[in-house]
Amino acid sequence: MLDAARWTVLAPLLQAATAGPDLLDATIRGLTPGAVAEEVLKEIGEHDVRLDLTFDGVTTSHLLAGADVVVSLDLADAVRGLYAGQPWSSLAVSTPDPEIDERGVQGWFAARKGLAPSVQGLLSALRPVRRDLGELAVELGTDKWGDLHWYTQHYERHFARLRTEPVRVLEIGIGGWDDPDSGGGSLRMWQRFFPRGLVHGLDIARKNVSGPRIMTVRGDQSDAEFLDRLGRELGPFDVVIDDGSHFNDHVRTSFHALFPHVRPGGLYVVEDLQTAYWPGWGGHPEGTDGTSIGMLKSFVDGLNHAEVGDPRGTGTSLQRTISGISFHHNIAFVEKGLNAEEGGPEFLRTFY
Ligand SMILES: C[S@@+](CC[C@H](N)C(=O)[O-])C[C@H]1O[C@@H](n2cnc3c(N)ncnc32)[C@H](O)[C@@H]1O
Repeated sequence: MLDAARWTVLAPLLQAATAGPDLLDATIRGLTPGAVAEEVLKEIGEHDVRLDLTFDGVTTSHLLAGADVVVSLDLADAVRGLYAGQPWSSLAVSTPDPEIDERGVQGWFAARKGLAPSVQGLLSALRPVRRDLGELAVELGTDKWGDLHWYTQHYERHFARLRTEPVRVLEIGIGGWDDPDSGGGSLRMWQRFFPRGLVHGLDIARKNVSGPRIMTVRGDQSDAEFLDRLGRELGPFDVVIDDGSHFNDHVRTSFHALFPHVRPGGLYVVEDLQTAYWPGWGGHPEGTDGTSIGMLKSFVDGLNHAEVGDPRGTGTSLQRTISGISFHHNIAFVEKGLNAEEGGPEFLRTFY
């Protein structure tokens, strides 16, 4: 089911997380502080301390409300820390300090130390550190690094400029195939990699994967009409990744259906291009026209369409919206952007 309403609170909140204080406050007021606090709590998970969040002078207690260790924050500060990694200006932590006794200062520190892990756990959930994508892949269980593939170094480089943006990501192929409780490693990895990202996963099989900023959709990547509807309802996307069936005709159908729903400046990524050379997958040992790599290779000539036909560069609508393409072992990144530069003048073409 396509559920665009799922992001009613999160989409504007993630946009406003890096805005100035007035705009962020106005956004929280518009969405209601209660709904915003609910998103913050979903993101940080469970902790055995009390979290007091204050907005417009009203404080509400959350998590383990009866606990005597209390972390207090302005709600706007919590939003900025969580989604934008910004330091807090309003943080206060109160712990019931132990009495000084016959064990002296060392004993006092030892008794106090017991409280630290729960506070540190909450604070690190409230402002997660930036992690390397390879580490995240291993921890969250996707094969994008060190298990068949070595993709994260390429993702890290191409996605660097998008990392802190409020991106919409769509990945075809959630993982785990027919097991509904398996897979989702890469969706969790993107959720963590993009702190302001909304992450959508598409799979032909039913999936029970969830997360505060993850939505899953069931459908077939070879169904162009369905993909177009998905793009209209949940897009436009900043990033689309095809890690689905890897059948060559599916890869081509998905690209043509979804590339129009990629935002200018966004990227369309195709993984596992080895199947382009394997006949059993609809490939050809020479990566000819009908294969996924054949399609991608044709985009290289398309980049220079204005040098072949009309120098004013009319080109096809697809050629005019592909501004770059990068190939690595088994993975390609297609950049969406206006490619309408003029070609060389007619006289120069026949100069020699
Ligand atoms: C390689 S796994 C995805 C792994 C995941 N992206 C990761 O990195 O953890 C491929 C997934 O594609 C799904 N799939 C296969 N054919 C599909 C199709 N026609 N449409 C959508 N999903 C499909 C499978 O069910 C499987 O879960």
